[in-house]
Amino acid sequence: MSDPFDPAARFARLKARPVVLEARDVARVYEGSRGSSPALEHIDLQVHRREFMTVVGPSGSGKSTLARVLAGLDAHAHGEVLVDGQPVRGPGRDRGMVFQAYSLFPWRTVLGNVMFGPLMNGAGGDEARAKALQYLELVGLEHLADRWPHQLSGGQRQRVAIARALANEPRILFMDEPFGALDPHSRATLQANLLDLWFNIPITIVFITHDLDEAILLADRILVLGAPDESHRAGWVREIVEVPLPVPRRVEMTLDPAFRTLRDRLHGLIHPVHAPTVPKERIPVYRMAQAGDDVR
Ligand SMILES: Nc1ncnc2c1ncn2[C@@H]1O[C@H](COP(=O)(O)OP(=O)(O)OP(=O)(O)O)[C@@H](O)[C@H]1O
Ligand SMILES: [Mg+2]
Repeated sequence: MSDPFDPAARFARLKARPVVLEARDVARVYEGSRGSSPALEHIDLQVHRREFMTVVGPSGSGKSTLARVLAGLDAHAHGEVLVDGQPVRGPGRDRGMVFQAYSLFPWRTVLGNVMFGPLMNGAGGDEARAKALQYLELVGLEHLADRWPHQLSGGQRQRVAIARALANEPRILFMDEPFGALDPHSRATLQANLLDLWFNIPITIVFITHDLDEAILLADRILVLGAPDESHRAGWVREIVEVPLPVPRRVEMTLDPAFRTLRDRLHGLIHPVHAPTVPKERIPVYRMAQAGDDVR
């Protein structure tokens, strides 16, 4: 029987959807007392409505910087960021952010944390509470509404952070290694949870991760950033990779040959074969002397 799934047709449909988020020749240089340090250069990017884009790249390739610039949280970037074709001038309700470090207010309960955004946006108490409960239910935590952040597990805290971002009903959600600090089981549960959310609410997601399985499993397309090298002074767009797997995704797909091929390819893009190792002359002499046992 022939496979009815046609990746080319799926990506043609994706690219036919309107562009919600666009970067045009974006660059960012950090200025410090020791001079300037370029973090990103020539970033051109288009993200389509309801797209799930993941971002991978070596440490220091500018992933977090890019997320902040796209979200409008960085006033010092060059180039243009557009949402629905309109230039972004600062943060806005239509864009939400979830970080790796749990960023809940410790002095507010779970419910209070999630109500915060709607209250700031002018909702009344009852309305904010109803909305917060709705999003807590969506992440499966309504039963913990009255707890304090310190009474939650890491995974639960991160789910509250997601509910809090969603309660503002952003159209674009940026997530910077949101599951990076979690154990593998919580991570897999939250991945499934997030895919479910994304499938059911009209949201576009830009998701940064170091985990290639996660990057593939979640994404329509993967943005691979390159670290500075001989030809680039700063982080740059190495490639935008389409994930040729059907949706909805299931964790068993990690065993699919197409999945494994893609993982190998991404690995090759991120970790070039000739990655520099520590030159011998940089290892302190006393350590060499103490190494002793032959570990080859
Ligand atoms: N506030 C800052 N001031 C100066 N340089 C910075 C600042 N923030 C980041 N950088 C530099 O910009 C470059 C990109 O940093 P960024 O945090 O965006 O990388 P990243 O890809 O998110 O890395 P990681 O995977 O380690 O989180 C790095 O060289 C970093 O040292
Ligand atoms: Mg980062």
